[in-house]
Amino acid sequence: MVEGVGSSLPERRVTNAELETMVDTTDEWIVQRTGIRERRIAGPGETTSVLATRAAQEALANAGRTAADIDLIVVATSTPDFTFPSSATQVQAALGIVRGAAFDVQAVCSGFVYAMTIADKFLASGSHERALVIGAETFSRILDWEDRTTCVLFGDGAGAVVLGRQEGQGTTADRGVLTTHLRSDGRHREKLYVDGGPSTTGTVGHLRMSGKEVFRHAVGMVTDVMRDAFAATNTTAADLDWFVPHQANERIIDASADKLGIAPEKIVKTVQMHGNTSAASIPLALAVACEDGRIKRGDLVMLEAMGGGFTWGSVIVRW
Ligand code: UT7
Repeated sequence: MVEGVGSSLPERRVTNAELETMVDTTDEWIVQRTGIRERRIAGPGETTSVLATRAAQEALANAGRTAADIDLIVVATSTPDFTFPSSATQVQAALGIVRGAAFDVQAVCSGFVYAMTIADKFLASGSHERALVIGAETFSRILDWEDRTTCVLFGDGAGAVVLGRQEGQGTTADRGVLTTHLRSDGRHREKLYVDGGPSTTGTVGHLRMSGKEVFRHAVGMVTDVMRDAFAATNTTAADLDWFVPHQANERIIDASADKLGIAPEKIVKTVQMHGNTSAASIPLALAVACEDGRIKRGDLVMLEAMGGGFTWGSVIVRW
């Protein structure tokens, strides 16, 4: 079950007005097309593992746990500090943990849904007791700051949850992860990718996206896996307390909720203040909604995401 949640954002806030001074764009265009009003951009010392470690520390405190209670760290990121070692091992060292396993998961914007699924399966198998599941990104480092079609969309940050193993009754009243559904289809690579890497160019590369093409697939893909999650748990949109989607675009979020009959007041939206933080967007949104008292113990929460690959997936959690 989810024992605690935490987050960390870079200091620097960048508004749409500031972007207007950098590329040929307007606040009006960005707000109308995406819902984004501002995003945080990491400074030199704010690396992915630094943000991830801060989020993890906050999640541990929120859970009433210490680093000694953790035997599994899964970090979802596409912007690690280094090609290797993994950001998860950096977080492990920063927290002073010398047992268990730590590794990264790379599923771009679906990363947190993938990481939750993997951690849940490790805990369910009995091999591990308590996990830190983290989504952390510094997408600002892989953006082409001269490409207005992408640079206005993304932001940096990290969010984390502490996930503990607990025996349940096998019903939807159990607390914890109730169902997970992952999908991918590598034929869509060209629609959203980074044009560099260790084995091709030997460079980090820049993010490239055909936004319209991604948009065209997004709603159908996420609603498919959300339907799978409802079917597997014998629940409906009416049973949900909160819908916490990946925060890429307000129009995708609203269209997905509308298609499945999820009431607008159940949607947690942070895209306006964080932009698209890729794998960090869901845990950042969870942290906001827990802190302001919306998500409470016992609530039924649907997570979903879709991103590069394509990858997509859903998770239903009883909080
Ligand atoms: O997180 C992983 C998944 N990623 C996503 O979910 C992103 C999905 N895609 C989207 O969110 C949207 O497609 C965008 C927000 C990226 C773009 O919105 P759109 O409504 O699909 O716009 P568009 O790409 O069709 O562009 C419309 C116009 C174009 O001009 P013309 O060709 O109509 O003259 C663009 O050149 O808007 C122009 N444009 C801009 N104008 C001002 C593109 N970027 C900008 C900009 N400022 N930043």
